[in-house]
Amino acid sequence: MTEVIRVSPDRPDPAAIARAAECLRAGGLVAFPTETVYGLGVHALDRAALRRLFVAKQRPATDPLIVHVASVDQLAPLLAVVPDTVPTLARLFWPGPLTLVLPRSAAVPDEVTAGLDTVAVRVPAHPVARALITAAGIPIAAPSANLFSRPSPTQASHVFDDLNGRIDLIVDGGATTIGVESTVLDLSGDVPTVLRPGAVTVEMLREVFPRVDVSTAIAIGSPMPSPGLLEKHYSPRAPLTLFEGRRDAALPSLIVAARSALAEGKSVGIIAADEDREALAALGEPNRRILLRTIGSQEAVEAVAARLYASLRELDASGADVILVRSFPTDGIGVAVQDRLRRAAAGRIIHC
Ligand code: TXA
Ligand code: MG
Repeated sequence: MTEVIRVSPDRPDPAAIARAAECLRAGGLVAFPTETVYGLGVHALDRAALRRLFVAKQRPATDPLIVHVASVDQLAPLLAVVPDTVPTLARLFWPGPLTLVLPRSAAVPDEVTAGLDTVAVRVPAHPVARALITAAGIPIAAPSANLFSRPSPTQASHVFDDLNGRIDLIVDGGATTIGVESTVLDLSGDVPTVLRPGAVTVEMLREVFPRVDVSTAIAIGSPMPSPGLLEKHYSPRAPLTLFEGRRDAALPSLIVAARSALAEGKSVGIIAADEDREALAALGEPNRRILLRTIGSQEAVEAVAARLYASLRELDASGADVILVRSFPTDGIGVAVQDRLRRAAAGRIIHC
């Protein structure tokens, strides 16, 4: 059994934090909340502990980890050089949901970087994460605390469901606020490039850099590359189909697909905006096999981001055979929501 310690999200009990920090120093695997999603922390310089982490998560060793530190001052030993832009970015966005990919020093084990000559680093903002990293006094490598290819955990119960018995400790600090993983910005090349969109948006980064590229797999509005090229990631167990395009076309298409799945005797999970509730509730009236999750208004995609992964897990737990999702507006964090939905759809995208 994995031990769960509950703490206040704002003012975690120092004794509880000290215990979790000691476990990390000793090479243990400790899940903790960040402002984005729960991370599965491990001593970033302890190779044996890092190897246990990959086994616990069933994560391929080819997927590099993010190293979490308490402040920008702790980066120097991990990096070959600290580029001039880092203090500026740190002042604007740290602590917070921005990860930087930078040339690494020899101190960072290959287990962290998957043998790359760069390392991903971030200073998280969640008070529990900050307290824990500070108390541990070591850099903490932490992937999202889910089994590989499952949706990232936004509540301690999600971590428990995936990893009970496989890790030492879960520090339960309640639900995370942002709900999607940090923005990953690669600063190791000539042009800063967003590898994963998150709450720190490309527009915000373009205030700092004259040019910011976005890796094509996530550029909204461009066609998806071959689904085979995409990591299958962020996925619920039931196949998910994403309906993109204008509401007046996408909503009727989704309804047609739901009716046909129902006719085949399937349980149909639906994720959509609050604005769609009435149209979709009518669909389910005589039929209990519709599982409807309206997870926020189209006008406030922050709330949608915060609830997205929990709703995918809920639909899986309720036995949905298929999941149909109407896409959300792609401003601000909506780009990150769209990216995660496209990955979860693994090519099942209907352009309406
Ligand atoms: O919000 C987050 O970033 C959460 C919390 C726990 O901090 N962590 C997280 O970690 O999402 P993970 O391991 O699930 O995702 C890390 C991402 C992966 O897409 C990985 O490929 C990328 O960061 N990454 C890590 N090191 C990299 C490197 N050296 N070069 C390029 N990408 C890297
Ligand atoms: Mg992950």
